[in-house]
Amino acid sequence: MLIRYDETLMATYLITGVAGFIGSALARAVLAQGDQVRGIDNLSTGRRENLVEILARIDFQEADMLDLPALYDACRGVDYVLHQAAIPSVPKSVLDPLASNRANLDGTVNLLMAARDAKVKRVVYAASSSAYGDTPTLPKHEDMAPNPISPYAVAKLASEHYMISFYRCYGLQTVCLRYFNIFGPRQDPGSPYSGVLAKFITQMLKGEQPTILGDGKQSRDFTYVDNAVEANLLACRVPAMEVAGRVFNVATGRRFDLNETFQILKKLTGYPGKVNYGPERAGDVKHSLADLSRATRHLGYTPKVDFEEGLRRTIDWYRSQERVARA
Ligand code: UD1
Repeated sequence: MLIRYDETLMATYLITGVAGFIGSALARAVLAQGDQVRGIDNLSTGRRENLVEILARIDFQEADMLDLPALYDACRGVDYVLHQAAIPSVPKSVLDPLASNRANLDGTVNLLMAARDAKVKRVVYAASSSAYGDTPTLPKHEDMAPNPISPYAVAKLASEHYMISFYRCYGLQTVCLRYFNIFGPRQDPGSPYSGVLAKFITQMLKGEQPTILGDGKQSRDFTYVDNAVEANLLACRVPAMEVAGRVFNVATGRRFDLNETFQILKKLTGYPGKVNYGPERAGDVKHSLADLSRATRHLGYTPKVDFEEGLRRTIDWYRSQERVARA
């Protein structure tokens, strides 16, 4: 496979939201397979530090998804686009639906225009399990009618429809990956809108009491970031007839409620205290669990890292950051 290192045979990937925790994990994986990375990020929730040891090896451009000329520049000469840029928060979208819509929907349409005109081979989109909303049936299958609750979920679902539309109308190959609660190293724990695992792990490592919003019986199909990375690489690689214009769940295929999750984290972090309970969050989904049969059949996806192993790796990473901060 020496031939892969011939520059002319290297593929170029554009990763939007490259400074986020999923985008930066994708960048590392693309570099590791010997391909080139161009990345854009407006650094609103992403952080340059997430790219620290690879920044010199990627073509990083600080740009917003609403900057259409910047997207046209970014798409030039690109083979694959991995579109992760978003304001990734249900509660934030409830507070400010216009901002959510601009970043999560308008940004997507801008990108699709640029990708179409640059004739990129394929666009893989970070869609969201929130599209299913509170449909009572579990597990959630891609053929189920979506039932989004929050403005975030609506924007993510509308973006999926745009992806499919650009395939049908213009032949641009698009693949939607419905992520189920991705977690892992570099996920930002510091905002009130942070994902629950990043928050709980860092709080418990510092000996602070976490708060479960609601009764803790809500459950999620929490998915370690390396599984999502693998799904993206597969989505670029498999033949178009299997994936183009389609939607796939990306998850672990098991759900844990927050009370159980807290107990597992207690064991893994050594946190001795109890959990606090607060009011349920507006727009929250009660249960989430993925059916993975379509992803397995057409993408060849199976989750490699289970929930507990993912938690172990994530906790190790946050611990290593504490050591760096103390040094
Ligand atoms: C939703 C999507 C997910 C998407 C994410 C983007 C669903 C099922 N999932 O995640 O795919 O990536 O949006 O933000 O729609 N919680 C606490 N205490 C806290 C923080 C949160 O108890 O301090 C609870 C929340 O109320 C919720 C659960 O933890 O019930 C998970 O919350 P969060 O991590 O924010 O993700 P979702 O909103 O489920």
